[in-house]
Amino acid sequence: MSNFTYSTVALDRLQKSDSEIFNALMHEEIRQTEGIELIPSETYPFPEVYMLLGSVFNNKYAEGYPGRRYYGGQENTDVIENLARDRAKALFRAEHANVQPLSGCPMNEAVYFGLLQPGDTILGMELSHGGHLSHGHPVTNMAKIFNFVRYRTEIPDGRIDLDKVLHIARETKPKLIICGHSSYPREYDYAGFRKIADAVGALLMADVSHLGGLIAADALKNPMDFGFDVMTTTTHKTLRGPRGGMILCKKAHAAAIDKSVFPGMQGGPHMHQIAAIATTLKLVATDSHKAYARQVLANAQTLAQTFLDGGAHVVTGGTENHLLVLNTATGFGITGDIAEHALDQTGITVNRNVVPDEPNPPFRPSGIRFGSPAATVRGMGEAEMKILVRIMLAALRDPKNETLLSSLREETRALCEQFPVPGLESVTAACRSAA
Ligand SMILES: Cc1ncc(COP(=O)(O)O)c(C=O)c1O
Repeated sequence: MSNFTYSTVALDRLQKSDSEIFNALMHEEIRQTEGIELIPSETYPFPEVYMLLGSVFNNKYAEGYPGRRYYGGQENTDVIENLARDRAKALFRAEHANVQPLSGCPMNEAVYFGLLQPGDTILGMELSHGGHLSHGHPVTNMAKIFNFVRYRTEIPDGRIDLDKVLHIARETKPKLIICGHSSYPREYDYAGFRKIADAVGALLMADVSHLGGLIAADALKNPMDFGFDVMTTTTHKTLRGPRGGMILCKKAHAAAIDKSVFPGMQGGPHMHQIAAIATTLKLVATDSHKAYARQVLANAQTLAQTFLDGGAHVVTGGTENHLLVLNTATGFGITGDIAEHALDQTGITVNRNVVPDEPNPPFRPSGIRFGSPAATVRGMGEAEMKILVRIMLAALRDPKNETLLSSLREETRALCEQFPVPGLESVTAACRSAA
């Protein structure tokens, strides 16, 4: 098998020692390469990432920070963590970087515990309007410790009204204000939020988990250029790295943030993950990544416009980033779970999503969310986005028609065959014969 991601020897060994996991791995590789991934928080990493995640850095305990660890044998781990921190600072124009958070939620929790006291008020975006669980949804542990209050998007254009945010901030006196979302298709007015934070004396944070790779490419605005105190980003979405999180901040907050991550929240950092983050940060500084980021935005625009032309209801009427949300309840008379299931059967993966001000619950919400990052990694452009929308519109208009859905699946498969996933080019044929 000539798959880039694993050596033949390692795969043979796994097949013999654990055939159940081996089979699941083969089938997942087939699923990821024969279908198309349109979930906006997912993408395909740089092929180097697979290699580093399977490297000997996995074996090393490195509690502490470069030059100040609690274990010996750190001459190589210090090199990679210093490179990751320096590259992150340069790329995002930040004074300090912490690359140890294991993922996005612990990354945000580390910021709250580092900069605030229990009981302090945090102002973030309402989850059903595009915010994220880790910005203090009542079901999270964080909501037991801090007092979260919310701003929302407004009818009719679905954007954030800064006058209303200022009013809420004056009423609730937050210690921290968060800009950031997981399903808001518009650019934030970072300068406007800076003014609000100054007016009420709050710290200002941006969680750009979805946008990190687009900001790194200067395709979207960088909150650090607007004097934000802290910026967090996951490393596995548009950044195309391993799963993980990063905290960028002003020097004044560096000691508190570092102490909050370790020893406050975590033990040994995942050094294989940090090695992969370091390489990712080098790769996203290249012209080819910049071109990728521009294409992600162009593809999202085409998806939105083609859906609008087809009569679909696009929340906020379009997109300025990599994602969009469709109201399938009003557009097609079906809830998001039914839409998600129908599209799954066509080989197109999306996720059900809440729509602002719609009454349906998160498990049976009124919409679906999708984005262009993964398809763009495969080299798909605007022509392919139009083909995908045609397939999706046909499925959404007739979501129970099994014959139609399976013929659409063949169209998706044929399209995907022309656009192999980097690093997994030979995977489909090889996996099929092994599975
Ligand atoms: C804005 C935002 N913050 C934080 C996270 C949490 O990341 P993770 O799933 O890695 O914990 C996400 C994940 O989707 C996100 O979209």
